[in-house]
Amino acid sequence: ARVPRHGQQGGSSNTPESVTIHGWIKSIRKMGRICFAHITDGSTATPLQAVLTKTQAAGLSTGSSVRVIGNWVESGAGSAQKHELRAEEVHLMGAADPNTYPLQKKYQSPEFLRSLPHLRSRIPGNSAILQLRSLISSNLTSFFAKKEFVQCYPPIITSSDCEGAGEVFTVASNEKGQEQFFKSPKYLTVSTQLHLEALAAALPRVWTLSPTFRAERSDTYRHLSEFYMLEAEVSFIETLDPLIGLIEDMIRGIVSELSTSRLGQELLELSGEERAQVEARWEGLLRSTRWKRLTYSSAIEVLQKEVQDGKATFQYPLEWGVSLQSEHEKYLAALFDGPVFVTDYPKQIKPFYMLPSATASPDSPTVACFDLLFPTVGELIGGSLREHRYDELLENMKTHGLVPTDGNMDEAGLKWYAELRKWGTVPHGGFGMGFDRLLCYLTAIENIREVVAFPRWVGRCDA
Ligand code: 4AD
Ligand code: MG
Repeated sequence: ARVPRHGQQGGSSNTPESVTIHGWIKSIRKMGRICFAHITDGSTATPLQAVLTKTQAAGLSTGSSVRVIGNWVESGAGSAQKHELRAEEVHLMGAADPNTYPLQKKYQSPEFLRSLPHLRSRIPGNSAILQLRSLISSNLTSFFAKKEFVQCYPPIITSSDCEGAGEVFTVASNEKGQEQFFKSPKYLTVSTQLHLEALAAALPRVWTLSPTFRAERSDTYRHLSEFYMLEAEVSFIETLDPLIGLIEDMIRGIVSELSTSRLGQELLELSGEERAQVEARWEGLLRSTRWKRLTYSSAIEVLQKEVQDGKATFQYPLEWGVSLQSEHEKYLAALFDGPVFVTDYPKQIKPFYMLPSATASPDSPTVACFDLLFPTVGELIGGSLREHRYDELLENMKTHGLVPTDGNMDEAGLKWYAELRKWGTVPHGGFGMGFDRLLCYLTAIENIREVVAFPRWVGRCDA
């Protein structure tokens, strides 16, 4: 049973409604002969207040689980709560020893709570994030269904490193002295893109929300070793515009639903001092229909000018050809006061699968791609048109060492991927969004380790 929400259930005080609730005690206070227990099942920001007798309260303490049957009535004058539960029967289901239960009703630092990943979801803010994930993923499901995309389930165990960044986790079987389980090394997926491309050659619009893994040694507030990526792939497109338009609609749709939902209101309540910032972020995303776009080359010029004018200093060098660092990305998004699409990056800093910006020119220095940069989180989305021509793809694969220089594909792990270009190839493109980074932005929670229930990062995989 769901804890009734204040004022939403229960009749007038003349006709008390009998309810049964299940939940966990957040706090319990004895006042003379009665006790006030605050109980939650995580569904609301504020716990429900139950009034118990001393006998009913025996053995109850913070953290214990209970079933309470009682009457849902209007609270007496002077109470902070509009309604309360007058208990008739209280069943202690699981006690929690107050001497050992680690969650306390006092400030406990994020670092400390991270050491208790199995318990911290009981904190109202953390329960709300679990609900936020669920709300957004169901919103995405209906958004993509309306756009006639098919939700797909690409594999997690793969034989390739999609991004070619050497950040793959290798899958090892633990059969001692046995031949390799899969005969050759296999990896946890870093991105489902290559498989989605195969599926997009059967169904022209596909998407997935899938776990992805990176053995990245980045110990930062925005990197995890295991994170969720939303990926979409669209066939029969020849420019980036349809992808960019889709992303703008998708994120605005999420924010619009969130800001009008009960959960949205509770998240605002729970965000305390950050409330104004969270509201400003949501409003900002809803305000403009089209977000700023500029090419990588212009972005470099803009940033260089900021440095020349003494308005910015950066740790990393800035010249045409370098990768944009997180400091540059965040600066651009702050400068344009919102999301920014940076397009057409230099070919040499991007993966093998991207289509040149000018397809007709074999030495196009840039590729038809974009990164969507958000204030505070930096890169949220990366996407591109894909090289759909067999010969050109083969050249790229040779350059990246994915195929021997003699072009013999027989031993190449990505033979299947190249073959998609041999039979019925079509121009296509797609993108991948860091789902957990989006949650950070929408909640103004800076550290990605706080929006994931069981975070994994370099050196840490607790519980
Ligand atoms: O930019 P990335 O590496 O792009 C791809 O993997 C493409 N194959 C996606 C595609 O086109 N289908 O990753 C996409 C997004 C990034 O923009 C970032 O938001 C997020 O995934 N991301 C991470 N999030 C958390 N922790 C990490 N270690 C992340 N690495 C990437
Ligand atoms: Mg990227």
